[in-house]
Amino acid sequence: MALTGRDLVSILDFSNDEITLVLDTAEQMAQAIGWEESAERQSLAPLDRILATLFFEPSTRTRMSFESAMLRLGGSVISMADARASSAAKGETLADAARIVSGYCDIIVCRHPENGSAQAFAQAASVPVINAGDGHNEHPTQALTDLFCLRRHKGALEGLRVGLCGDLKHGRTAHSLAPALARFGCELTFIAPDILCMPYEVTEQVQALGADPEVTEDLAGALDGLDVLYMTRIQQERFEDPAEYEKYRGVYVLGEKLMKKAPENMLVLHPLPRVDEIAPEIDDDPRAVYFEQARGGVPVRMALIALLLGIVEETRSGKQSGLVEP
Ligand code: NCD
Repeated sequence: MALTGRDLVSILDFSNDEITLVLDTAEQMAQAIGWEESAERQSLAPLDRILATLFFEPSTRTRMSFESAMLRLGGSVISMADARASSAAKGETLADAARIVSGYCDIIVCRHPENGSAQAFAQAASVPVINAGDGHNEHPTQALTDLFCLRRHKGALEGLRVGLCGDLKHGRTAHSLAPALARFGCELTFIAPDILCMPYEVTEQVQALGADPEVTEDLAGALDGLDVLYMTRIQQERFEDPAEYEKYRGVYVLGEKLMKKAPENMLVLHPLPRVDEIAPEIDDDPRAVYFEQARGGVPVRMALIALLLGIVEETRSGKQSGLVEP
């Protein structure tokens, strides 16, 4: 089950056992960086590895948590402040950029507005490539972060009843999370306006993985029986017609009224950023775990980087570098 040297383009590139390995390793990383009050925070030895981040689209959480993760592992980060202002603006192809950047680092994290760009990048690169979002296709490391949060709260992923709500057409986090949940045996409900429904290919994929998703437009009606509600933003930038966006913004707003109707133990997750689909009035509800979910991006990405670089054993034993006893 070696992940060393592999790419992560689609969440289904990893088997359930490999996903479980990432989540287990992320638990160790969380301990090592002092998440648990009782745990001793370990000090970092320098790690002779470089991570490059190439973001051709805006990002706060994904990029910063990747950079924070590499620094916490003791490694270094190089980053293009704005990849759109790079040689891409001069017409350099993604494949050429991948070859060049491979010579400057040991692992690449890439976000790009085109579907399939991560695959093209990974094919040309000679170091592991992690897809940090390719158009509206996939965002597998967000799915790993979501699964980490779910497993911490619910103990196991198997059999969870999960509602995914919002812009399921353009929401790449949902496109990665739904197949992963299906393969872990979760029951899925897709909650979206008809025009923003889950793409046919993703629905077909989750069905092939054994799920039989319910489909509805009615958030209030779908709450009953859910263990998890995964809210997503209406993706303004991916609408061709701004008037169409205006029609659907604010279509779902999760506030106190709906939370009163929701099951007592129904977790609320959101990949963030939120716009208006979750009212701040529920932020203090113990079921609202989206900020904690975002925080988990660091140990999850530490685990992923360490596994793809093949340095987990070293970081565990403190032999080479990375996480060592003080
Ligand atoms: C998501 C994305 O970029 O797809 N953000 C993130 O990485 N957490 C979700 C979004 O932008 O709505």
